[in-house]
Amino acid sequence: MERKIQVYASLHELARAAANKIINIAYYAIQSQDRATIALAGGNTPRPVYELLATPPYCDQIQWQKIHLFWGDERAVPPDHPDSNFRMANEALLGNIPIPDENVHRIRGELEPSAAAAEYADLLRKIPGGIPPQFTLVLLGLGADGHTASLFPQTTAVEERSRNVVEVYVSKLKAWRVTLTLPVLNAASHIIFLVSGRQKAETVQKILARDPNNPDPLLPASLIQPTHGQLTWMLDREAASLL
Ligand code: 6PG
Repeated sequence: MERKIQVYASLHELARAAANKIINIAYYAIQSQDRATIALAGGNTPRPVYELLATPPYCDQIQWQKIHLFWGDERAVPPDHPDSNFRMANEALLGNIPIPDENVHRIRGELEPSAAAAEYADLLRKIPGGIPPQFTLVLLGLGADGHTASLFPQTTAVEERSRNVVEVYVSKLKAWRVTLTLPVLNAASHIIFLVSGRQKAETVQKILARDPNNPDPLLPASLIQPTHGQLTWMLDREAASLL
């Protein structure tokens, strides 16, 4: 597994580098496969990356009609809910770029969670590249508890190895989530963690100090190990402060 660790002076510098990296990954995928499939991360950290991708010159460097956007996870809420990962991406990115509606594939959080998971799994089967679906790029965040996507410690979602999408009840949040599972995430050609802030530094250090061949299920992000792709951790200085 090829793993890169890149540290930036600020979240803004991280966002600029991430936007350029995404443009580059998308360009080469379109060159070779005439499309790029990207699973977006939720939470707050990715917002400035999405906002940059929606502004010139960044937005002019992507052939949006050849991009298909997905989500790594979603909260069990409607798309206009303040907690919705779709809503955040829609405000920061989708509403400002010429991507065809049919290229935007959200997890329907308004459905009963198991139905939303089943529907999304059906959608993923349509991605070329076999089973599990092979995303061009998966963007991920990191929780201070070591979760990524909605793979929270001590949940069944972390152990799932056959279903590509599962519903999971996160007791600490008292909330349902729908999430891609490790087989799908690890099948991606590129995986990028976007991590910012001092509150993540201990978890970043615990994960990156570990032998990649000895992941800890209690730190689900340590289980992100691409089977054939490239893994990049993009950190701001605060998140990397204990490395
Ligand atoms: C979500 C994300 C989740 C997120 C982390 C970090 O739906 O919340 O998928 O995994 O990336 O919780 O969130 P922040 O970027 O807001 O710290």
